[in-house]
Amino acid sequence: MSEEIFKKIVAHSKEYGFIFQSSEIYDGLAAVYDYGQLGSELKNNIKQYWWESMVKLNENVVGIDSAIFMHPTVWKASGHVDAFNDPLIDNKDSKKRYRADVLIEEHREKFQQKINKEVEKAQKKYGDNFNEQEFLNTNQRVLENKEKIAVITERFQNALNNNNLDEVRQIIIDYEIVCPISGTKNWTEVRQFNLMFDTKIGSVTGDASVIYLRPETAQGIFVNYLNVQKTGRLRLPFGIAQIGKAFRNEIVARQFIFRMREFEQMEMQFFVKPGEEMQWFEFWKQKRLNWHYAMGFNKNKYRFHNHDKLAHYANAATDIEFEFPFGFKELEGIHSRTDFDLKQHQEFSGKKLQYFDNAENRSFTPFVVETSIGLDRTFLMILSNSYDEEIIEKEGEESGTRVVLRIPPALAPVKVAVLPLLKKDGLVEKAHEILDLLKFDHNCQYDEKDSIGKRYRRQDAIGTPFCITIDHQTLTDNMVTIRHRDSMEQERINITDVEKIIAEKVSMKNLLKQL
Ligand code: GAP
Repeated sequence: MSEEIFKKIVAHSKEYGFIFQSSEIYDGLAAVYDYGQLGSELKNNIKQYWWESMVKLNENVVGIDSAIFMHPTVWKASGHVDAFNDPLIDNKDSKKRYRADVLIEEHREKFQQKINKEVEKAQKKYGDNFNEQEFLNTNQRVLENKEKIAVITERFQNALNNNNLDEVRQIIIDYEIVCPISGTKNWTEVRQFNLMFDTKIGSVTGDASVIYLRPETAQGIFVNYLNVQKTGRLRLPFGIAQIGKAFRNEIVARQFIFRMREFEQMEMQFFVKPGEEMQWFEFWKQKRLNWHYAMGFNKNKYRFHNHDKLAHYANAATDIEFEFPFGFKELEGIHSRTDFDLKQHQEFSGKKLQYFDNAENRSFTPFVVETSIGLDRTFLMILSNSYDEEIIEKEGEESGTRVVLRIPPALAPVKVAVLPLLKKDGLVEKAHEILDLLKFDHNCQYDEKDSIGKRYRRQDAIGTPFCITIDHQTLTDNMVTIRHRDSMEQERINITDVEKIIAEKVSMKNLLKQL
């Protein structure tokens, strides 16, 4: 998918009320977005899918909702005050600022793309006889590019792990990475920049003290670990899930809702016995990938990517990356966070955050495996996967091109549109009867304006899985036309079957059952 499609998705999101630039009438606020009438529905459905998959389906996972403001020492203890930084570099000609690590990663991705092209070419050439694994292990050009990836990765990892910013810059120089705007290699030094927003709490200026807007929801879980464990009488292993806002002063905030300054995270901390964390790390990796697969999009668009540099708290970390229109990028992180956070909070608060194991008759600090996914990025992933332009040559449909959002029905913002063929002869009243039948279970739309073809197009464009059309015959035989979004198939069904057919197809339960 290309940048051009991406631009279309952004424009489409605005045109149909999914996403608006924040404070748009004041020319907007960079990297901050508002969700419109359909966007907030889709967002709520994604939250429901995640929350229920975690809290309902796992008897040992519970959910909380902690405050955004936290005691400032939390962020000292967590390491965010000292180490939550991005390495930044400026191009002196364009005056544009970049994340140095992202520039290098994107350069490295070019070698991977070359490999993918070689594979594609060979696939076409050899057809059914093509053995991809053998090709990857033997083709000269593939091997050269693999070697290039290995060399740059090792150098980059060493530089990051040693916090050697001069070396990070040197990699950019040596690989002749240019600024995408000016096209020059005229780079400044690399500097670290802390991403936390701060503000003041307290009414009197002199008494006010600095607090931070949380940069991750996870710390709200850690500081409540003992409260939840004790009041919920939970035994290891168990998880605490949370959905909530997080804030980061992203300097390089582009690509729409991919990187925002205010965003939402869906995080789960899974507390385990020390020594068992790797087994649970593998368990959650697979479980989370299955959650993505169950939505039914192309599996080739997801991949694992191990971190080049482990965060200050982790002993293993991987990302689930998704192929966004601008390339493979992080969608979700799965981290083995050891006992770092709980130990730090014990030290800084002076309160014990331990677990007493009855069977072993001893106390210890649990280890933690975390799954952390951005709600907004999941939203963008679903839009990117769903957006389709299709040429129509079908009877009963207006010819031309239709834009259709193939959103999984359980997540679609509107499940069904009820459309009287005409605004007279009792069709409107009949349509409202059907609407009244469905509205308690589903988000529905009623539309009586324009030709039926135009109305179908409008519903396709917002991803509505079903349209129900009421015509004159309905009044005599109690039958309606149900039109399916993806196939554009139309069937006559009895009104008494409408509820059942729709409920079955848009059911969150059926989506969850696939997990
Ligand atoms: N508690 C661990 C943590 O916060 P992270 O990799 O920094 O880890 C987790 O963030 C997820 O949050 C990312 O995979 C991404 O989906 C989302 N995320 C992070 N920063 C974001 C931003 N600026 N805008 C939108 N989503 C973001």
